[in-house]
Amino acid sequence: MIARRNLLILAAAVLAGPFISAAEAQEPFRVALILPMTGASQSTGRQIDAAVKLFMKEHGDTVAGRKVEVLLRDDAGVADTTRRLAQEAVVRDHVQIIAGFGLTPLAMSSAPIATQGKVPMVVMAAATSSIMAASPYIVRVSQVLPQPAVIAADWAAKNGLKSVVTLVSDYGPGYDAEKWFVERFKAAGGTVPESLRVPLANPDFAPFLQRVADAKPDALYVFVPAGFGSAFAKQFVERGLDKSGIKLIGTGDMTDDDLLNGMGDAMLGVVTAGPYSASHDSAMNKRFVADFKAGNGGMRPNFMAVFGYDGMQAIYKAIEKTGGKGDGLALVDAMKGLSFESPRGPVMIDAATRDVVLNIYMRKVERRDGELYNTEFETFSNVFDPAKPKP
Ligand code: DHB
Repeated sequence: MIARRNLLILAAAVLAGPFISAAEAQEPFRVALILPMTGASQSTGRQIDAAVKLFMKEHGDTVAGRKVEVLLRDDAGVADTTRRLAQEAVVRDHVQIIAGFGLTPLAMSSAPIATQGKVPMVVMAAATSSIMAASPYIVRVSQVLPQPAVIAADWAAKNGLKSVVTLVSDYGPGYDAEKWFVERFKAAGGTVPESLRVPLANPDFAPFLQRVADAKPDALYVFVPAGFGSAFAKQFVERGLDKSGIKLIGTGDMTDDDLLNGMGDAMLGVVTAGPYSASHDSAMNKRFVADFKAGNGGMRPNFMAVFGYDGMQAIYKAIEKTGGKGDGLALVDAMKGLSFESPRGPVMIDAATRDVVLNIYMRKVERRDGELYNTEFETFSNVFDPAKPKP
């Protein structure tokens, strides 16, 4: 009896052997996509999620023989939630990559999870320069605010603006957008009579805009994150600043392609420096915009969608290069130095910093075929983060 049972166990083990390894080979390569799908930054979540789905529809869900599975998680833009979801993804769901991170505080809260779990963290939105120092497992595909900030400052100085007031959201990327603009503009001989910081949550721009009106600068330079441009534009118009002769400039985050049509004609002529316009003239972008709109009820992709798409490009290339294995450091290494074409133009992941190198475009809001677009008029290629030493 006992002997027979042992035999059965032995037989079961022999049979199970190949089954287990086959099952292991078939385990999907899991990517946790942690995004604000609700709350004030939900447009970032919606845009990135839609772009990730579009990428997988175009490229299939099998890479290097391994099925890729994306687990979408909603952190509602709350940093403690992002951290908990990242932890669950790593510990419970055994994901090979965590990705997303719609705002700087959400990325910062999760960086220790990436380090402890030895899991790559692909940042698809957050854009404060210092994020990279929070974990050696971070790879960023989005943008870094000092990149558009210095290019906007150079443009302002070259185009006869002498005094500029800055107005930024009061947190990491706002400080980067402010510091790098102000330093560069002053170095070129400009003056900055005031630097205003508006709370990120439920921003009331009115009292700040009153101070802008009183200071009467040549221009107002603005950074607000994706999704916040319409609230700003509404109050800018309500305060009559569109008729004040004060020119509106900023980083491209303000004239968000997702919102621009709703911001209205007061935005015509607004000049921004940014990494992506839905009207970027390339075959790849034309296809991207058409397919994105077709799959999402006509929604226009914004820069966040492109960052999400590029995140998937980097992830797929890293899975290919590592033969479908899920080793965290090998995946990070595989992403270092990658370069690829994006709907925004060429993109590179700097091998030394793991941070994104991209084109920054000067753009002007124009009406075309009845719609508002950020029309690109000058290209700055291969822009590194000026806040990091150039390798
Ligand atoms: C950040 C978020 C944004 O939506 C944006 O446009 C730029 C920066 C951030 O929190 O880092």
